[in-house]
Amino acid sequence: MADGSQAHRRPLVAGNWKMNLTHLEGAVLAAEVAAALPSPVPVDVVLCPPFTALQAVGDVLAAAGGEVMLGAQDLHWQERGAFTGEVSAGMLAALGCRYVIAGHSERRGLFGETDEMVARKAAAARAAGLIPIVCVGETLEQRRAGRVEAVILGQLEAVLAAVSPDAGLVIAYEPVWAIGTGEAASPADAAAVARLIRDRLRQAGPGAGDVRILYGGSVTAENAAGFLSEPDLDGALVGGASLDARSFAAIVEAAVKP
Ligand code: 13P
Repeated sequence: MADGSQAHRRPLVAGNWKMNLTHLEGAVLAAEVAAALPSPVPVDVVLCPPFTALQAVGDVLAAAGGEVMLGAQDLHWQERGAFTGEVSAGMLAALGCRYVIAGHSERRGLFGETDEMVARKAAAARAAGLIPIVCVGETLEQRRAGRVEAVILGQLEAVLAAVSPDAGLVIAYEPVWAIGTGEAASPADAAAVARLIRDRLRQAGPGAGDVRILYGGSVTAENAAGFLSEPDLDGALVGGASLDARSFAAIVEAAVKP
């Protein structure tokens, strides 16, 4: 059923811990998150700790029943070799990761990642059996210049040249101006961009209706329901609020579709 209706897409809430928490602190938070969620966990939930905490967090999640999944925040597109400091998709898969974020705006903006690099990362993730969560989003300057569509479609273009749209792809719409600022997009604006993304995905392949589209950017326990009740949004990519188990659990609860 790839008709674009949301009924068959299982909501997804991912916590991006960014460069926070040691492996010891991460293990504690992972245990708190697992304990705060109902069992069975009603939607897909993924924790994305720093590389250094993947093993410890993965162990805690497995011991808690393995319902909450493990994800990484980045990867390199090569399988192995002389790439000092980098981590491959295969290494992440071997640690039990199921998801990996690619092209977060902090990677693009602070570390010079291009659309092509992001596309290669998405393809490498899929080749290793991981689901890439590919981030797209415009800056405030671009939004003010009326370039939201052009920016989002441009970022998508490179991904679609490398990866076919299907259930093994997640797109996260994260407007750069909403990240870590406390100033979230409106649910209607986020849903409008999600529709734009879905329409473009549809042109690229019959599996487009299976791609989950998330919103990210200052999602909190208080505002999550507004986004997650939008039929065009299939979940959330959460930064700051994912560092608190109760807030994160409340966001997961808001993602359960009636
Ligand atoms: P905040 O939720 O802290 O705004 O971060 C969003 C984000 O960048 C998730 O990847």
